Amino acid sequence: MKLEQAKRDYYRRRAKEEGFRSRAAYKLQQMNNKYRLMHRGSKVVDIGCAPGGWLQVASKLVDNVGVVVGVDLDKVEPLSKNTITLQDSITSEGFLDRLKAALRKDKADLVLADLSAKLSGIWDIDHFRQIDLCMKVIDLLPEILEEKGSLVMKAFQGDELDNLVRRLKQSFSRLEISKPNASRKESSEIYLVGLGFKGTVPERQVEHAELEPQSEGRLGSSESDW
Ligand SMILES: C[S@@+](CC[C@H](N)C(=O)[O-])C[C@H]1O[C@@H](n2cnc3c(N)ncnc32)[C@H](O)[C@@H]1O
Repeated sequence: MKLEQAKRDYYRRRAKEEGFRSRAAYKLQQMNNKYRLMHRGSKVVDIGCAPGGWLQVASKLVDNVGVVVGVDLDKVEPLSKNTITLQDSITSEGFLDRLKAALRKDKADLVLADLSAKLSGIWDIDHFRQIDLCMKVIDLLPEILEEKGSLVMKAFQGDELDNLVRRLKQSFSRLEISKPNASRKESSEIYLVGLGFKGTVPERQVEHAELEPQSEGRLGSSESDW
């Protein structure tokens, strides 16, 4: 536990020194080093991008010939010229059209989804809300992600995770489960990395009673890990 606290402090301090808006930036850096997700010229969509640590990492890697489109409920402080941000919810009406307009009708090479539902403190509800947001992101993929493109998606371990993994396995040639060093070991957070998008996604299998996802500002409980 002490070691984990020290690791957390280390990434927090380092983020401050290196000018990153969140220590989550290191998680993306570590996954990019492993899976080579982005390069100069890539087009990236970053869903749930505030305060902008992942945006900073992506914006640097894609350079001035690439583009990054970030989306969040919260307003994001402007970043570099190659980065556009939308203050929006993926669950709001017309969202897909607004995102496609920001992408100028192109599709992305990489979709990042680090978004998290606001925690109620009731484990089952929080887990389901998170999976529900993930499923909504998957629904968008055929319209926003290039065939052979990649996805990085945050999920929490729990009963519904299998359904999510199954759907992603059917949508990508390869699915990896990643726990970057910068993610706390005691957090149930994991990252699903989809490589080689097939261009279509299967229908969502089990429909639950719609729980209005209470999207977060900041995670406040033990799951908070950015
Ligand atoms: C863990 S933070 C993302 C941290 C970010 N990757 C970074 O590096 O700074 C999760 C974000 O998801 C956003 N979010 C939650 N629900 C959302 C929704 N329905 N649409 C868009 N963003 C959402 C929250 O506002 C929050 O800023």
